[in-house]
Amino acid sequence: MLAVNELSKSYDQEAMSLKDISMEIEKGEITVIIGPSGAGKTTLLRSLNQLIKDDQGEILIDGLDVRTLNRSKMRQMRRKIGMVFQNYNLIEPLTVLENVLHGTLGGKPTLLGILSIYSDKEQQEALALIKEMGLEEFAFKQCKDLSGGQKQRVGIARALMKHPQIILCDEPVASLDPKSATLVMDILRSLAIEKKMTIVVTLHQVELAKEYADHIIGLRAGSVVFDGPSSALDVAAIRTIYD
Ligand SMILES: Nc1ncnc2c1ncn2[C@@H]1O[C@H](COP(=O)(O)OP(=O)(O)OP(=O)(O)O)[C@@H](O)[C@H]1O
Ligand SMILES: [Mg+2]
Repeated sequence: MLAVNELSKSYDQEAMSLKDISMEIEKGEITVIIGPSGAGKTTLLRSLNQLIKDDQGEILIDGLDVRTLNRSKMRQMRRKIGMVFQNYNLIEPLTVLENVLHGTLGGKPTLLGILSIYSDKEQQEALALIKEMGLEEFAFKQCKDLSGGQKQRVGIARALMKHPQIILCDEPVASLDPKSATLVMDILRSLAIEKKMTIVVTLHQVELAKEYADHIIGLRAGSVVFDGPSSALDVAAIRTIYD
């Protein structure tokens, strides 16, 4: 589904942020990328949908190298990928429903009276996703009045509006308390199992990674130092990644 071959990236001449990264990510699985701060987790995730350009290597999505796509093919490819962010990236003064509608394919301009530019079908779909995320009672509340965990679920609903096949999440639970973090991870797990989505998540919490990941990739100083099922992530492997 998603394969990376010998991907390297440096932001400047001196330091390589990603060094010869190769990995395969399967459909319907949760792949968690762990590693110390500065290891290259965000860089790798952002490379996957070409938010940053790479120096060399291949990124194959369904067999197509995303680094060689022209603009219209790139747009098609991006439609397959939803993003979820640590800081939610919501428009705080807008309602939950308005923020979720913002994820609609094609993106529409943010104008006053935003609801009127979305079709009934889009609004019904957004409301259904809001319900799925357990946020029914908040649909017409402003996002600024929500808790972190609730905001993150709005972020997931927004990502789902364009029916992605892949969801990339950069530290989606780093700002959340353990209970809210579990709730968000449970949602990601159900998207993988029930909707067969490909989920790639960066996490700082090794315990959460072990609990939720089908597949763990350990990065250290830009290199893959662990790649295996979560059951194989033992104390020695954790030391290799973090010590
Ligand atoms: N825009 C940038 N310009 C220059 N160097 C950068 C830039 N972004 C990241 N880096 C460098 O690339 C390396 C990897 O950074 P990255 O943000 O991918 O790490 P990370 O694993 O996500 O860390 P964290 O856990 O703190 O989020 C670091 O050495 C960082 O300083
Ligand atoms: Mg990061």
